[in-house]
Amino acid sequence: MKKKIALIFGVTGQDGAYLSRFLLSKNYEVHGVKRKSSSLNTTRIDEIYEDVNSAKFFFLHYGDVNDGQSISQLILKIMPDEIYNLSAQSHVAVSFEMPEYTFSTNALGALKILETIKNSDKKIKFYQASTSEMFGSTPPPQNELSRFYPQSTYAIAKLAAYWLTINYREAYNIFACNGILFNHESPIRGETFITKKIISALVKIKFKRQDILYLGNLYSKRDWGHAKDYVKAMWKMLQQKKPDDFVIATGKSYTIKQFILFVSKKLGMKISWKGTGLNEKGYWNQKCIIKVTKKYFRPSEVDNLRGSSKKAKKVLNWKTDYNIHSLISEMIDHEIKLIQSQVDNYS
Ligand code: NAP
Ligand code: GDD
Repeated sequence: MKKKIALIFGVTGQDGAYLSRFLLSKNYEVHGVKRKSSSLNTTRIDEIYEDVNSAKFFFLHYGDVNDGQSISQLILKIMPDEIYNLSAQSHVAVSFEMPEYTFSTNALGALKILETIKNSDKKIKFYQASTSEMFGSTPPPQNELSRFYPQSTYAIAKLAAYWLTINYREAYNIFACNGILFNHESPIRGETFITKKIISALVKIKFKRQDILYLGNLYSKRDWGHAKDYVKAMWKMLQQKKPDDFVIATGKSYTIKQFILFVSKKLGMKISWKGTGLNEKGYWNQKCIIKVTKKYFRPSEVDNLRGSSKKAKKVLNWKTDYNIHSLISEMIDHEIKLIQSQVDNYS
């Protein structure tokens, strides 16, 4: 049987790496678009090359979704069956500092891909990486019918891409879907996102490689799942008879402080808290190890995200293998192995 061809924008990111592996396991030929950078940015997918079986069906191309002409040429050259647009300036806090770049990449990037699909002779399916951030200040539980009230340029740009996806589906009969994914994490999550930042720091503090962890708002709530479970939902959306939009979430949410508690318990570190607001501090073994700083607060915050994935469970038969505790354990194990390998390298 002829292999299906997938093209992934954002292949070097957390989800791009998991999705590549998943699609290769489903017998796809996978093409990924990576940006030109001055140093290596393929660490998350390097292993795929080292695997002789998958490397034969895995191809990388240079590209940037801000460069419409090259994106269009690439799509028309590869002529994929499915396109997954995972590319984004994905950090909410950074979008307050780089609003124009974020808007261009996250909104116009999707538009450029959709325009090429519209003008191509082939019926190319399209997945758009939409986000729970679009719900913003709408209280939980959030589902496909909840009101959008975004709180950052990141989320506003994503909302534009969300509506472009729906408009191109309705106007031009393109098989285009929005996956409205809530936070999902993994050992290969970017270092500046809260879960990875906390786990990496607490492991380092325990092994005496770091003294203090600086954080912002400890009281926002997030619904955290595992990226490995979430990329399966992306693929499932494109295998349906009709294109549609789906919320992907665990249905459980916790504050940042509760997340710290889960991690510290697993590490056997008893953290006690003193003070409030910017003076709130976390102590371990009588030493201050967590401090709050204004620097990491956002001009506007999304306080409470907890999604309902009833529709995805029913229509896609989407199931999860992980919960927050197995996610944290896997992330901690990964950080400990990293530290141990550094010790081995120097001994
Ligand atoms: P990530 O690790 O930050 O990956 C983003 C990817 O986009 C990277 O490969 C990055 O390349 C690429 N990229 C950035 N700017 C680009 C550009 N101008 N042209 C082409 N590629 C570009 O993000 P993720 O966690 O895997 O998330 C995947 C997608 O889902 C993102 O669109 C994100 O906004 C969205 N999302 C994520 C979550 C979550 O909790 N993880 C939840 C909802 C939605 P470099 O490696 O070169 O930077
Ligand atoms: N990153 C970060 N760093 N966040 C902090 C910090 C800190 O030092 N201190 C507190 N926080 C709080 C943020 O204010 C936010 O309320 C929460 O921790 C989670 O922050 P992130 O992990 O950066 O994720 P996010 O929820 O803003 O965005 C992620 O999830 C979205 C889906 O809901 C990203 O992956 C987005 O790309 C994604 O769309």
